[in-house]
Amino acid sequence: MRICQIAAEVTPFAKTGGLGDVVAGLSSFLARDGHDVRVFLPFYGQIAKRTETFTPVDFVRNVPIAIGPRHFTFSLLTGQLPGSDLWIYFVDCPELFGQDKIYQGDLIDWVRFAVLTRAAFESCERMGWGPDVVHCHDWHTALAPILLKALYGWDRLFDRTRTVLTIHNLGYQGQVLAGVVVDALGLGSHIHWLDGADLAAGRFNFMKTGLLHADFVTAVSRTYAKEIQTPEFGFGLDGLLRARSDRLVGIVNGVDYGEWNPEIDPHLFYHYSSQDLAGKWNCKRNLLREVGLDERTAAPVVGIVSRLTPQKGFDLCFDVLPEILARRDLRLVVLGSGESRYEEFFYLLQSLFPGKAWFYRGFNEPLAHRIEAGADLFLMPSKFEPCGLNQMYSLKYGTPPIVHKTGGLADTVELFDSAPGTGTGFVFDHFAPHGLRWALDYALDTFPHRPIWEKLMANGMAQDFSWDRQGKEYVELYGRLVG
Ligand code: ADP
Ligand code: GLC
Repeated sequence: MRICQIAAEVTPFAKTGGLGDVVAGLSSFLARDGHDVRVFLPFYGQIAKRTETFTPVDFVRNVPIAIGPRHFTFSLLTGQLPGSDLWIYFVDCPELFGQDKIYQGDLIDWVRFAVLTRAAFESCERMGWGPDVVHCHDWHTALAPILLKALYGWDRLFDRTRTVLTIHNLGYQGQVLAGVVVDALGLGSHIHWLDGADLAAGRFNFMKTGLLHADFVTAVSRTYAKEIQTPEFGFGLDGLLRARSDRLVGIVNGVDYGEWNPEIDPHLFYHYSSQDLAGKWNCKRNLLREVGLDERTAAPVVGIVSRLTPQKGFDLCFDVLPEILARRDLRLVVLGSGESRYEEFFYLLQSLFPGKAWFYRGFNEPLAHRIEAGADLFLMPSKFEPCGLNQMYSLKYGTPPIVHKTGGLADTVELFDSAPGTGTGFVFDHFAPHGLRWALDYALDTFPHRPIWEKLMANGMAQDFSWDRQGKEYVELYGRLVG
């Protein structure tokens, strides 16, 4: 099949979270599986600084795109995804994407990502490449289905094209004022295709428009596909999602074990497997040394790697972590950045518990890998989590996760039961401080029992969430749509 992916992030070129990992992992799998895959991504300033070579694509130079009164031109560059056969097509429009930052706020981003989406279609036309499937991701590219119908419907090249929209996070919807936007997008003569109530209220919602027009919608886990049909996690779109439930399915994300595998991870100084864990203990000592904590301790190390937003559930930690750190012998190693109240909280823990808690504010890919490997436990108490990748990485690294039972966390982590020795982590049901405290205490009480702990680690390390498995579900879906 000819598959066109359009997204705001593709790892390693552009990543702020799991979206980039998933678009890269899924697309590489599809290419390996024999499909003709073309991925469209903005040529952000940070990509231009990389060492790879980017080659101009013939016939796609200085192409004009108008968004209302604003006129842009883009050229297309192509470059290979490191370590794969996959070609990425970069939309080079310095005026919109020349800066390093991937996101600049919805007020500016709606134009940037509308141009990305249009540029993908303009490029397909000039390359004479008619995709069987256009797969768009999150609000940024959710307009692909409607733009395809409204602006490119005349072009026979797209006659057989079907559209899939994947919801990675319904918490972000791309809400803008309808006033100028609808006309600017070229949808002024198609307002009967838009949500009437929103228009009457002067609003236009990228995600909602995508959900209305995509041939099929996926969410990134089975549980999340159900949760978004409820008022709590539907963020106002649950009614529409219930109405479209016959065209909505949850597919759990895959993991790129080429990137995330303790046997070969280039960011680690020691390697290990479930058969030989010696390297894991060296990784732990190394991590403690790297962050300036005493490496001789036998205490368990709890790791966190996260965007620091309300979604990630750290509000629960405000009460629980100071109390646990005071009461029990553990180490806490945190990597993340985001809202200042969470950053300030982790700085505070570091100053209240010197030698026990450590915080690095920022984005640091190598350190993320070393925390996955060097920690004994991985903490992810998310309030909601569409899928989550870190818990799957931590399972593979023998670092049992402590998670709230929600979304993809519920689908990928099973509560450990020491008697039969089943399960892979510590799962709490109630999103409340006592739930998190129970899970942490259970984990810390289990840790000293080495044979039991090693059984738990082995259970997690044996899990297979590879794209070779998960990606097949997308291939089946595309196949059904294309017919
Ligand atoms: P989300 O996409 O909601 O942030 P996921 O668990 O799906 O959550 O994916 C997060 C990804 O981003 C993981 O690959 C994780 O390692 C990475 N990540 C998050 N924060 C940081 C950070 N501060 N430094 C490095 N990597 C990070
Ligand atoms: C979003 C979600 C996360 C998911 C990722 C990739 O950022 O917050 O749960 O794993 O997308 O699908």
